[in-house]
Amino acid sequence: MSNRVLIKEVAPRDGLQAQPKHLTVEQRQCLIASLMAAGLPELEIGSFVSPKAVPQMAGTDEIARALPASSCEFSALVPNMKGYELALAAGIKTQAIVVSATEQMNQNNIRMSLDQTFAMAESILTRSREDDVAIHAYLAVAFECPYEGKVDPQVVIAQAEQLMAYQPARLVIADTIGAADPMSVRRLMDSLVARFGSDRIACHFHDTRALAVANVYAALESGVRHFDSAAGGLGGCPFAPGAKGNVATEDVVLLCEQSGLSTGVNIERLLESVALLSEMIGAPQGGRGHYWLSKNWQKLAG
Ligand code: COA
Ligand code: ZN
Repeated sequence: MSNRVLIKEVAPRDGLQAQPKHLTVEQRQCLIASLMAAGLPELEIGSFVSPKAVPQMAGTDEIARALPASSCEFSALVPNMKGYELALAAGIKTQAIVVSATEQMNQNNIRMSLDQTFAMAESILTRSREDDVAIHAYLAVAFECPYEGKVDPQVVIAQAEQLMAYQPARLVIADTIGAADPMSVRRLMDSLVARFGSDRIACHFHDTRALAVANVYAALESGVRHFDSAAGGLGGCPFAPGAKGNVATEDVVLLCEQSGLSTGVNIERLLESVALLSEMIGAPQGGRGHYWLSKNWQKLAG
């Protein structure tokens, strides 16, 4: 099993999309530059969604067009074909689409039924092959939905199979409201890794119940090596009540590096990104390991 863990940094999208404080395009660009300097291999720069629905993400187009050449893989979230086309026109060649496991979450998030959402996913995935766009297909509320309650793992497995039949570059199992526990994560990810292998599977956890790091560990044990996280533990979904911050990038880095898995992230620089975010948001941000890391990061950097 690989010793390399690949982190997709989502602070500029999931981190900011529900913040009461709306950052300017320039501030978001500074944040992205700072996260790139921290060596994050993948970075979600924003979303191509209706600015009426999510004003925090207005201007993602401008950010996309001004991205520098980089080895960092930039991506953006798109809710529908219109978003796909806008992102592609702005040069975004890796895009995230979101299918929620329940009817009501799809309705509230993107105003589509479950069937319409799968049809949207199929048409974007078919189109993406012609355009040479890589799609990260998210299966949101994969453990629990804020509207419909617990989600049956068998339903999630069937939906994962349906999505994988359209051949996304990656399938991301997302605990959108942070309701998963390590045992459930282990069981579900064992099943998915057994079916699809670990190369194209990722996890996305939120820390609402303080279990996000434990959930990352459970998924690591299942062989998953791709994780989403947000610097400082920022995050939440405007359409999923109760969703708290994403698992903090610094906590995932701490967990991995201390356990002998490498992330390639420069911890000192990452802490600078967290400080920048705190300044921009106007409130201190930081994962669970932040205090220890801020004093002892050299111990891990060796
Ligand atoms: N980007 C920008 N604008 C978009 C868009 C997109 N991807 N998709 C639709 N729109 C615009 C339409 O052009 C239309 O604009 P107008 O009012 O100026 O004519 C308006 O949005 C309404 O279009 P419609 O197709 O009726 O959309 P809707 O009102 O049913 O809303 C979404 C659907 C998906 C656009 C909206 O719910 C949305 O953006 N949701 C974001 C969800 C999200 O970001 N969730 C968090 C991450 S999972
Ligand atoms: Zn999220």
